[in-house]
Amino acid sequence: MYSRTKLTSIHLLVISITILFFRTDLTLAEQRLQVQLSYAPNVSAPLQRNPSKVRVDLETKEVTARLADGVDYNFWTFGGTVPGPMIRIMEGDEVEFHLSNHPFSKMPHNIDLHAVTGPGGGAASSLTAPGHTSTFSFKALNAGLYVYHCATAPVGMHIANGMYGLILVEPEGGLPPVDREFYVMQSDFYTKGEYGEEGFQPFSMEKAIDEDADYVVFNGSVGAMVGDRAVRAKVGETIRLYVGNGGPNLVSSFHVIGEIFDTVYTEGGTLPNQQNVQSTLIPAGGSAIVEFKVEVPGTLILVDHSIFRAFNKGALGMINVEGPDNSLVYSGKQADRIYLPEGGAIQEVAVANEEPAIPLTHEERLQRGQRIYEQNCAACHQMEGKGISGVFPPLANSDYLMQDLPRAVRVVISGLTGEIDVNGKKYNNIMPSQRLNDHDISNVIGYITNTWGNQAELLSAAEVAEIRAALANH
Ligand code: CU
Repeated sequence: MYSRTKLTSIHLLVISITILFFRTDLTLAEQRLQVQLSYAPNVSAPLQRNPSKVRVDLETKEVTARLADGVDYNFWTFGGTVPGPMIRIMEGDEVEFHLSNHPFSKMPHNIDLHAVTGPGGGAASSLTAPGHTSTFSFKALNAGLYVYHCATAPVGMHIANGMYGLILVEPEGGLPPVDREFYVMQSDFYTKGEYGEEGFQPFSMEKAIDEDADYVVFNGSVGAMVGDRAVRAKVGETIRLYVGNGGPNLVSSFHVIGEIFDTVYTEGGTLPNQQNVQSTLIPAGGSAIVEFKVEVPGTLILVDHSIFRAFNKGALGMINVEGPDNSLVYSGKQADRIYLPEGGAIQEVAVANEEPAIPLTHEERLQRGQRIYEQNCAACHQMEGKGISGVFPPLANSDYLMQDLPRAVRVVISGLTGEIDVNGKKYNNIMPSQRLNDHDISNVIGYITNTWGNQAELLSAAEVAEIRAALANH
């Protein structure tokens, strides 16, 4: 049994210690500058200050969200997004880092910041159970663009599920001023189903170990930087991209179609060590800073030039540049003439159009159409006819396709340029004309309009021939 007096003194001690800690914490919070986080593709403004005592608050959170159209994934995140927010601090900053793990998390998480000098980059000091907050401090000794990631076992799985982001440690005095800065982070995803397989897709450890990526994306999902979500710039501006690669596995051959990097800070270091670069390697767990001035209007396309990743796994992003043309720098198409090699002696030869010896059955026509589709169309419209959001329109359940079959035939014969509307989304790309005979066109259109949920009568080769003749007479 405790006496009443004894209890009271213990209570007093506890209360005074609590007050002491509480006040210390308050004082610390008051003295420190709160670091503003920015979410990709946005970058917070350059720092106009001296090295300071700063505070970073970051939350880990597990969320189910869109990985691609019709595909959901259970992401493990920093800040609720993939990539996590960009943390912008300054060389010499004394950083007090608070990592909170959301109470609804199923896993503990931590953070390894490559900008930290010290064991694990902060990992051991920041291991945090759901519903807890860990605090540790570090001094930013080295300027540069660094990756941060979760390093909780199994590390690969925490990274594969989306736990990475960038921390920029500005050199004292800052980087040279530019007009626009963007945050882009590439990463690869491994799902039970293949690319585009609809529904909720769980993580595949087997594919991750085999480095057999289903998705390679910029900023966390297919299409995160295309169409309406493309970033914008104006002719004459200088753009700086802070590009990170979260991996977990793949090295990026980062390239911008239609631009040349005027300056590259290779591997995210502070030395602008290369000029006039086409593609720059970005290792998993590494970064690069690239700068370029945009001279002409149009859409610049960010890709991983390991190119199947771009057109078949999602690694596409866009920068829409607006402003006046500069025909000296780039003319646009000036002419499209018939090319007649060998002095015009060779004339356009009609595509062989002979009748098959034995008429094909309905089933055989669809099989033939499928083969033609896979050889001529699937590279852009994809095997499953889903297209690539914002770039190549879908054929599966496409209102544009199914509303007007003669138009579809004309498109196959003559190609298509200019803006079209497909299922409420705008597309503006070039489809080349296809050198196919009337039988093949009727079969491939037959296949396309009777697969993936589409249904329509098969056109005959004679009907295609009529449409071709009408086109020729125009
Ligand atoms: Cu984690």
